[in-house]
Amino acid sequence: MLAIIGGSGLTQLANLEVVRREIVRTPYGDPSGAITHGTIRGEPVVFLARHGYGHTIPPHKVNYRANMWALAQQDVKYIVSVASVGGIRADLKPGTLAVPDQIIDYTYGREFTYFNGTDRSVVHVDFTHPYCEALRQRLALAAEQASEAVLQGGTYAATQGPRLESAAEIDRYERDGAHMVGMTGMPEAALARELGVCYATIAVVVNYAAGRVDSAAGIKMSDINAVSRGALARVHKILDYLVTLDGR
Ligand code: HPA
Repeated sequence: MLAIIGGSGLTQLANLEVVRREIVRTPYGDPSGAITHGTIRGEPVVFLARHGYGHTIPPHKVNYRANMWALAQQDVKYIVSVASVGGIRADLKPGTLAVPDQIIDYTYGREFTYFNGTDRSVVHVDFTHPYCEALRQRLALAAEQASEAVLQGGTYAATQGPRLESAAEIDRYERDGAHMVGMTGMPEAALARELGVCYATIAVVVNYAAGRVDSAAGIKMSDINAVSRGALARVHKILDYLVTLDGR
């Protein structure tokens, strides 16, 4: 079964027939909301809104451990995350969709591991390839079937938020090799790996990053929201195809 984590602007799925909502408690506290069980085109799906169903939880306050734990409990094979980003690379212009293949973590002060305690031996998971290749390929295939262009690959810089970056910070991330910037990619990806769940992200470029192109003078949330609406409609289309690939 496929699980979908919706990011900003995606608190529900367009074609989801809701079957039930389940409140899941975890050893790490409460997830961002109830897990929604439903079907898309007859295929079972679970959905969770990362920022809560009313979009009230900022990126640094999301209980990533509880979210990932709760989804992993649902016997899911794949977790696809939808996440808004700012484009650093010139071709990652607003409205572009991308499936990153690398990540750099600039976040701090978040609960970022399940291997925290003294009750079991330390585990160092392999994170060379932070996203699940099988799911990345499925996303590419679903996009092709949906006739939607999606850029393959790219390095996601995970920042702390909730503020946007300074232009100099974006320059630094670019020098580091980052192509897009968002606030929720970590620790989500690492926790999925610790749980052994196949996880990938569909990044929705909603603005040029600070100091770039039309964000040279600043970034307006109203512009972001307008781009986001259009791009998310295309994400819904891709997800519709993705669920029907599940199990094959
Ligand atoms: N920076 C960080 N996170 C984001 C951005 C950005 O420019 N746009 C959407 N999420």
